[in-house]
Amino acid sequence: MNLVLLGAPGAGKGTQAKRIEENFHVLQLSTGDMLRAEVRSGSPRGQQADALMKAGRLVPDEMIVGMIDRRLDRDDCRGGFILDGFPRTLAQASALDEMLAKKGLKLDTVLSIDVDDEAMVERISGRLTCANCGEGYHDSFKRPKIEGICDVCGASRFVRRADDNAETVRARLKEYHAQTEPIIAYYDKGGLVRRIDGMRSIDQVTAQVTSALKECVRAG
Ligand code: AP5
Ligand code: MG
Repeated sequence: MNLVLLGAPGAGKGTQAKRIEENFHVLQLSTGDMLRAEVRSGSPRGQQADALMKAGRLVPDEMIVGMIDRRLDRDDCRGGFILDGFPRTLAQASALDEMLAKKGLKLDTVLSIDVDDEAMVERISGRLTCANCGEGYHDSFKRPKIEGICDVCGASRFVRRADDNAETVRARLKEYHAQTEPIIAYYDKGGLVRRIDGMRSIDQVTAQVTSALKECVRAG
């Protein structure tokens, strides 16, 4: 199964993608994670992306499209993939259609996680991630079972993202509404979109996602 996860910053794409990976054995491809790895490596691409990400702006389409195009050719994508954070502009959506057609692949569904703007700032400002395995947490909504220890790998160092501050979140939300939201209508025309109410608890969102994906599998 190949799917796109759409949703504003902080909607829960990463949180749900990890659970879809486990439940449906498909691979998460997060363009945000790929770019943060490039920034850490200090590559020219990372340096170009760093300033834009810190300002809450999108990086150029050509950079992202090339990254995804190369990534989809790797063997670990054969069992299916979740595109988390891509496409984010209409140009990226149409580039994705072209590249999938060339590779003989198609999208099975597009899940749109819908969340009110007011919830985003609270979610993003409380987010923290295990520095070792990348498991995501939240100061209020998802705390580790043992304070200060990652549930998954037992590490004790957590990090916060450089773009997770109120000012940058507002810029990211603006980009989302201007550039990314129109993609929902683009995919709606092809009947691919399933809407998910992202204002529920994390587990309730997972339940909706799971039933949408089971329905997608049944529909073949
Ligand atoms: P990216 O990393 O994709 O960030 P984003 O889209 O802003 O989304 P987030 O990762 O912040 O949120 P999420 O939806 O994954 O939420 P999460 O599950 O973590 O992109 C970063 C930057 O990279 C962009 O700004 C851009 O510059 C660049 N970029 C990336 N892709 C690009 C592209 N294709 N084109 C151009 N530029 C690109 O959840 C958030 C928090 O809320 C967590 O703490 C979580 O525990 C909590 N939470 C989750 N669900 C719930 C719930 N239901 N109830 C309560 N709390 C919840
Ligand atoms: Mg994310």
